[in-house]
Amino acid sequence: MKRVLVTGGMGFIGCNFVKYMLREHDDVKIINLDKLTYAGNPENLKDLKDKRYAFVEGDVCDKSVVDKAVSKCDAIVHFAAETHVDRSIMYAGDFVTTDVFGTFVLLEAARKHKVQRFVHISTDEVYGEAVGRPSKENDALMPKSPYAASKAGADRLAFSYFCTYGLPVTITRCTNNYGPYQYPEKLIPLFVTNAIDDLPLPVYGTGRNTRDWIFVEDHCQAIDMVLESNDFEGEVFNVGSGEEKSVLDIASLILSYLNKPDDLMRFVKDRPGHVTRHAVNAAKIRKRLGWAPRRTFEAAVRTTVDWYRNNPEWWRPIKSGEFKKYYEKQYRTE
Ligand code: NAD
Ligand code: TYD
Repeated sequence: MKRVLVTGGMGFIGCNFVKYMLREHDDVKIINLDKLTYAGNPENLKDLKDKRYAFVEGDVCDKSVVDKAVSKCDAIVHFAAETHVDRSIMYAGDFVTTDVFGTFVLLEAARKHKVQRFVHISTDEVYGEAVGRPSKENDALMPKSPYAASKAGADRLAFSYFCTYGLPVTITRCTNNYGPYQYPEKLIPLFVTNAIDDLPLPVYGTGRNTRDWIFVEDHCQAIDMVLESNDFEGEVFNVGSGEEKSVLDIASLILSYLNKPDDLMRFVKDRPGHVTRHAVNAAKIRKRLGWAPRRTFEAAVRTTVDWYRNNPEWWRPIKSGEFKKYYEKQYRTE
C-alpha cells in the first residue's frame, strides 16, 4: 500500500485528486493535510467513505503537524497554497507565508523522513507572459503577481532540495484548471454562477487576455502519472491542453449555453500586472509519460456548467459568506 500525503486536499484540485486516486488505485492510502482556509471546504469530500482516506486539519507552516503527517507517508503531493491572483494583490504576505515558507517546512520534513517521491504542484504562472510561443520548461521565470512570484520561489526551492540534498522532487507546471468544486472567485465558476443569477460578468480590461484551459480530471491524471514514475527526479513537466481561449470567448460560451444575453458582460477596470497570455508547450509530458488530455474544451465546459447548475447547495452558501465581502471589495466601482 503506497501512503501518499496530499496537502491542500480540501481545495479544488486537491479534492478532485483525492477522489481520482482512490478511484483509480486499490493500493493507495491518502492523508489529506489542510488548514481549511476560506478555499478549503469539507463539503468537497463529505461523501467520501473510504478507510484508505484520513483527514488532518493543520497548517503546512506548522512544523510539528507537518513532521507527524510526513512521518507516516512514502510520497507527497503538495497542492496547499494561497492561489488567487486578485487576493495576492490585496494580501501578498499570506502568499509568501504559505506558498514559500509552507513549502520549505514540507521539504524539510520530507528530507528528514526520506520520502520516496515529492511531487510539487507549481503553475504556469511562474513563467509570466508567454511571448510569441507557449512557455517551455527551460524558459526564464518572470512572474508578474505576488501569487506567481511566491509559487516561483516555492518551485525553485523544491528544485534546490533535489540538487542539494537529493530529495526526489518532480515539479509540475499546469495551466488554468476548471471543473467541479472550484471556488467561485476564479473566472469560470464566477461567470457561471453569476450568469445563473442574471448578475453581471465582470470582464477585466479588454477581455482579450488568453489562458490555456484544462479540465481538472485531465490535470489529476497527469499528476498521477508523474507520481507513479521514478525516472524524473529534479525535472519539470508542463501540463496543458493547448486550448487557448480569451475571457471574451469563455463569457460568450457560458452565456450562450445558459441562454443568457451577451449584455450581462460588464467591462471593469483591469487587474494590475495582468498577464496577457499564459500558455505552455506540453510536448515533454506527452512524449515522456504518454499523457494527453481526454476532454475537449467545449464539452468539458458544458459538464462544468451543468455541475454548477445541479449543485447550487454547494456554491450558494459560499457566495453568501466570506466571499460576499471579498466580492464587494474586489469589484466595487470607485
Ligand atoms: P484552492 O485555493 O482551491 O485550494 C487550496 C487548498 O489549500 C485549500 O483547501 C486550502 O484550505 C489549503 N491551504 C491553504 N493554505 C494552507 C496552509 N497554510 N496549510 C494547509 N493547507 C492550506 O487551490 P487549487 O486551485 O486547488 O490549487 C491547488 C494547487 O494547484 C496550488 O498549489 C496552485 O498553485 C496549483 N495550481 C492551480 C491551478 C488552477 O488553475 N487552479 C493551475 C496550476 C496550478
Ligand atoms: P483567474 O481565474 O483569476 O486565473 P489566473 O489569473 O490565475 O489566470 O483569471 C483568468 C482570466 O480571467 C484572467 O485573464 C483574468 C480574467 N478575469 C476577469 O476578466 N474577470 C474576473 O472577474 C476574473 C476573476 C478573472
